[in-house]
Amino acid sequence: MSETTVIPVAGTDGMKDYAVHVGRGILDSLGELLPPRAEKVLIVHAPALAARAEALREQLGDRQVLLAEVPDAEGAKRVEVAAFCWQILGQTDFTRSDVIVGLGGGATTDLAGFVAATWLRGIALVQVPTTVLGMVDAAVGGKTGINTAEGKNLVGAFWAPRAVLCDLALLDTLPRNEILAGYAEVVKAGFIAEPEILELVEADPERATDPTTPEFRRAVELAIAMKARVVGEDFTEQGLREILNYGHTLGHAIEHAERYRWRHGAAISIGMMFAAELSRLTRHLSDEAVDRHRRILDSLDLPTTYPAGRWPTLLATMRRDKKARGSLLRFIVLDDIGRPTTLQGPDESLLFSAYQEIAS
Ligand code: GLY
Repeated sequence: MSETTVIPVAGTDGMKDYAVHVGRGILDSLGELLPPRAEKVLIVHAPALAARAEALREQLGDRQVLLAEVPDAEGAKRVEVAAFCWQILGQTDFTRSDVIVGLGGGATTDLAGFVAATWLRGIALVQVPTTVLGMVDAAVGGKTGINTAEGKNLVGAFWAPRAVLCDLALLDTLPRNEILAGYAEVVKAGFIAEPEILELVEADPERATDPTTPEFRRAVELAIAMKARVVGEDFTEQGLREILNYGHTLGHAIEHAERYRWRHGAAISIGMMFAAELSRLTRHLSDEAVDRHRRILDSLDLPTTYPAGRWPTLLATMRRDKKARGSLLRFIVLDDIGRPTTLQGPDESLLFSAYQEIAS
């Protein structure tokens, strides 16, 4: 077992402090992160993780461990699936001192978090993300939620976990394109706050994205530590937390246009390229910094262009984005690498000009 890095997250808004534990082969420390008083554990997991969940059940020994297998990806984030979990909790007399474990990608941990936040008005939660996206973003920071027919994440709660366990060895068997798509959130952390991540990718994109290397671990830990700092200051997204949405305003519109069949990271890669171009037009971000975005994203085989004719549809979708305040569109832009700021209500002609720079 490798050494574990413990990244603290400060609790705000009535939530307790917790930590994100990062290492390789550290899954067997899960028992130490559960509340000592918890007699029952519900592991919410995706189908592909059934064997892993079963192994955890055996590992947790004398506790009563229940398994809730939920559909893959966004199929998990439905009220019927939450109700299935509530039913298990009800039928097994789950109490306030018991604990839910979310084992899977971002959709699974979002659902597990939502079930933990709502059962008996909130019970303990430990997140065990199994994807890059889950480790550096979804499982850290306490955003939980499910989708409705009208849109993504429309129902949810801010509910901080008791701990997050990131075992990098879980990533070893993931397909490379899955790693790269998740890695878009790692380079996002680089662009908005941690240029060392960008340097790691520039030095050797292969090693920076190989879960077995120290470079990968360093980049992921930097991204998690960045997120921990941000959510420790602004848990409920009153201000600072919004910087995490760099590339997401257009990225969400692309995901919608692609009927959610694209990986999130691919959509936000284009969104970051657009945000960089918009930053050049509105905040004097240098040509070199914009080119750096393109070089880095290209080196990770992430897309940086989108069809020219899609602009009217994307604009209409962005206007509906829940992050629009009143009628004004909001974008996170950069004054420089590592210096994000908010751009509110930009002129449509500026948006169109930035889009032309990324249009294919
Ligand atoms: N994924 C953005 C956030 O957690 O605020």
